[in-house]
Amino acid sequence: MTTSASRRRPFIAGNWKMYKGPAEADALAELLKRSLTGQAQVDVAVAPPFLSIPIVVARLRHSGVHVSGQNLHPEPAGAFTGEISGEMLRQAGVAYCIVGHSERRALFGDTDAVVEKKVQACFRAGLLPIVCVGETLEEREGGQAEVVVRRQLAAALGRLTADQLPSVTLAYEPVWAIGTGRVATPAQAQEMHATIREWLAERYPPFVPRGMRILYGGSVKASNAAGLLSQPDIDGALVGGAALVADEFLGIVAAATA
Ligand code: PGA
Repeated sequence: MTTSASRRRPFIAGNWKMYKGPAEADALAELLKRSLTGQAQVDVAVAPPFLSIPIVVARLRHSGVHVSGQNLHPEPAGAFTGEISGEMLRQAGVAYCIVGHSERRALFGDTDAVVEKKVQACFRAGLLPIVCVGETLEEREGGQAEVVVRRQLAAALGRLTADQLPSVTLAYEPVWAIGTGRVATPAQAQEMHATIREWLAERYPPFVPRGMRILYGGSVKASNAAGLLSQPDIDGALVGGAALVADEFLGIVAAATA
């Protein structure tokens, strides 16, 4: 099942990972603000490291560019040394939060169960979750890509009602394409995006698959964005490395408006 991409507003999100301390983050945010203030065709968000969030929120105020967390703790507060809650992000002016990024899954023990708790925590705190799913190279080569993605979707979204789902953005990020320069072809990405939309269509009323945005992530650059974004089930991009360079990121936003 595919529905027209034109019904969904494109969404480009930049994940700055552990780059850009406050001064550098402010400088990048200023460049984005200059170019993006007033554009109304694409939703844009950036996810700076926690420490840089306040300065980026202040810089991007009234620009229309939203700020996202990269992660959150499932609990609202408590004796969890080194952690940040969704409530704190919300208080700091954050609108979105990435959940289940493959680096969190692979390096920091974010299992499917943890991802599900973090999705719930986003709703409790009033944050819009950007939920990442995607298979490793080994899983793809073993013919397991769809099984893995379906399992991750079932775990992450399992306790949400149909009415909650349009607040969720999904991001398909094949692990083998993240930070490797090895981008999925538009056809490969479209195939999995269509599978994800079918998965939604099998379980929820039509407004859910029709309305939910599914971003592609993994080595997206200004030069390859147009091919990916022209696919009917690709509604935007979650961008890592290229989001650290203003012109690259702006080029991806421009590709989404084309
Ligand atoms: P990349 O990262 O664009 O550097 O591949 C994408 C991501 O991790 O979200």
